[in-house]
Amino acid sequence: MRMYDIIVDKRNGKELTREQIAWTVAGYTDGSIPDYQIAAWLMAIYFRGMTERETAWLTDAMAASGDLIDLAAIPGVKVDKHSTGGVGDKTTLIVGPIVAACGVPVAKMSGRGLGHTGGTVDKLEAIPGFQTVLPKEEFFRIVKEVGIAVIGQSGNIAPADKKFYALRDVTGTVENISLIASSIMSKKIAAGADAIVLDVKTGKGAFMETLEGSLSLAKAMVAIGEKVGRKTIALVTNMDEPLGAAVGNALEVAEAVATLQGRGPGDLQQVCLELAANMLLLAGKGDGDIEGCRKMARQTLDDGSAYAKLQEMVAAQGGDTAYLDDPSRWPAAPFILPVKAGTSGYVTSIDALAIGNASAVLGAGRLRKEDDIDHGAGLVFKKKIGQWAEAGDILAELHTSAADKGEEGYRLVAQAIEIGPVKPQPPLLILGRVTADGVEQKLA
Ligand code: URA
Repeated sequence: MRMYDIIVDKRNGKELTREQIAWTVAGYTDGSIPDYQIAAWLMAIYFRGMTERETAWLTDAMAASGDLIDLAAIPGVKVDKHSTGGVGDKTTLIVGPIVAACGVPVAKMSGRGLGHTGGTVDKLEAIPGFQTVLPKEEFFRIVKEVGIAVIGQSGNIAPADKKFYALRDVTGTVENISLIASSIMSKKIAAGADAIVLDVKTGKGAFMETLEGSLSLAKAMVAIGEKVGRKTIALVTNMDEPLGAAVGNALEVAEAVATLQGRGPGDLQQVCLELAANMLLLAGKGDGDIEGCRKMARQTLDDGSAYAKLQEMVAAQGGDTAYLDDPSRWPAAPFILPVKAGTSGYVTSIDALAIGNASAVLGAGRLRKEDDIDHGAGLVFKKKIGQWAEAGDILAELHTSAADKGEEGYRLVAQAIEIGPVKPQPPLLILGRVTADGVEQKLA
């Protein structure tokens, strides 16, 4: 085979064969095909697109380029969850324990935050002592004994995707649905779960800003999952404003705990229960009835079993659970700055992208991959979209370790919140649900 012919076939709009795609992925991973040819190939894909079959073959080839985690030693249907990334998105810390409390094993590999989005591994590392790097045997033992463990993604999951992504990033070829869908799904498939629930965020703080784009991405990922034999459901959820009230690592852990104790913000609880219910459905719970699965999920908040699961997991992974039970143990940030309303009115919009950037400036996120993060930094909203604020009311509280970071964060947050005279409609949170059977829209 020659890379030249594969580039020309795609440039001319031909459907590639499985062999051509597998050969290309293997050759790029082992270094025998140069960057410039893969760059041309990616650009041809960008303009010509890929069929569903090609996208599934690309996914398979990238998943097979590194470790394929075999979870068979853990009894039960293993269901994974993946979010395309958002601001204030602490859903894994809540959904994982809910699902585990219902008897579905959760063996989860998560990522770190970059840019304006947070990552579950950073949030868990805010808990003193918590280990996100564990030997495989220990990871499996905890999942078997406790029902849930969450670790960082191993370096050798889908290495082909890492190379392709780095090249896409510098050649203007990131924004293609087949390339994004295969990139995300290759990592999920390599991580070994039997079934996958995807949380595709949509709106200002999301990778996909429009509902149309988010639904297309959701459909492409569900199609891949079905083609490679992993049952997959995608929810499209709102990321116009941050999810919940807290943004920042320790602050988000505390909010996750409150939510597991039934005291969390309504939007966060609603999204978490819906994600959990869909995971339970895929695991075969609730006799195949989503309403039954919603009730099961809700019950774990009411009876305390989901919070108990989080405590067990944190203890098993070396974390100090006293910080969960008593959030006042977390050291207060040296600077806590209120952002106050300049005029009276309703909060009409909170730009999630700007808030994500502000939280990184405050110290909660990374501007570059190698940056350290400040686990105590971030912000907490006192008012969200639709709430009334009197002039002088606190809209949000910023937490940071340095006055200059506070000043810049203040400016970004103050600009990101809009106040107006007309009460806005409450934002829909679950905007779509994509399964193998089709698409439902505007759900709740
Ligand atoms: N996230 C990924 O993992 N891959 C993409 O291509 C885009 C977002």
